[in-house]
Amino acid sequence: MNQKNVIKEIKDNICCLTINRPKHLNALNKNTIKELGLEIINAQKDKSNRCIIITGSENKAFVAGADIKEFISFTKIEGEKLARKGQEELFDVIENSNTPVIAAINGFALGGGLELAIACHIRVASENAKMGLPEVSLGLIPGYGGTQRLASLVGKGKALEMIATAGMISADEAKQWGLVNHVCLQQDLMEKSINIAKKISKNSPMAISKSIRCINSGFTPGTNGFEVEKIEFGSCFATPEFIEGTTAFIEKRKPNFSNIG
Ligand code: CAA
Repeated sequence: MNQKNVIKEIKDNICCLTINRPKHLNALNKNTIKELGLEIINAQKDKSNRCIIITGSENKAFVAGADIKEFISFTKIEGEKLARKGQEELFDVIENSNTPVIAAINGFALGGGLELAIACHIRVASENAKMGLPEVSLGLIPGYGGTQRLASLVGKGKALEMIATAGMISADEAKQWGLVNHVCLQQDLMEKSINIAKKISKNSPMAISKSIRCINSGFTPGTNGFEVEKIEFGSCFATPEFIEGTTAFIEKRKPNFSNIG
């Protein structure tokens, strides 16, 4: 039987997706991109999932990039298609997921692997993690959204330095840069990520998905994020989750958003 490229485990309404190509340092080949994209779409459809965590198998790599061996003899057209398909099938799907996605970065996050982490909404790194975009050392550029998302996270100057030097930074440097939200010991990585997911799970999924949409719209050319926020704010009113949240406040109890909608 073929080994699955992505392993799914659901516990406490948190869907954990582990990229399972340890012999290739979890490099993203075509099939893994497709499988992971479909798992994210399915996880979002199941409303009992309140958060998604993506991590890499074993303890050396989150993802060491796109699978270089797969594209080595590609033509221009095939190369463009690889980037377009990957972005559409996976990276854009993650960024626009209604359900928040956390990257638990457990080792090397390089090239397409760092691009995967930065398409996620929240990043937690283990202290041994190393991050970089080494594509220019291969005569390539980042093709899974890295030139755009890295610059919006850390600014143009740092993004260009990381891309042009093809260097790697440590988890602590990534935290200083604002590239990752938290750094912890490797043995604590999943617990730390699950704790964030559990905090998210207590809040209104409807309001969280609208927050994701508003934040993303601020980074979408031609879209006025403030206008989107006004509309989305209004659209929360009178919804069952708004009624539960505000009623719970008045009744001095914790809101319960499970089983609504
Ligand atoms: N693609 C395919 N195979 C990869 C890979 C990748 N991105 N990264 C690692 N591997 C494979 C290696 O070829 C090796 O396989 P074999 O045992 O069959 O030779 C196995 O994983 C273990 O890797 P190493 O022996 O190289 O391990 P190491 O500890 O010596 O080095 C590393 C670790 C520094 C991460 C090194 O593997 C490395 O530099 N990997 C490539 C990183 C990279 O350049 N990523 C960018 C890819 S291009 C991209 O992502 C384009 C895009 O934006 C769309």
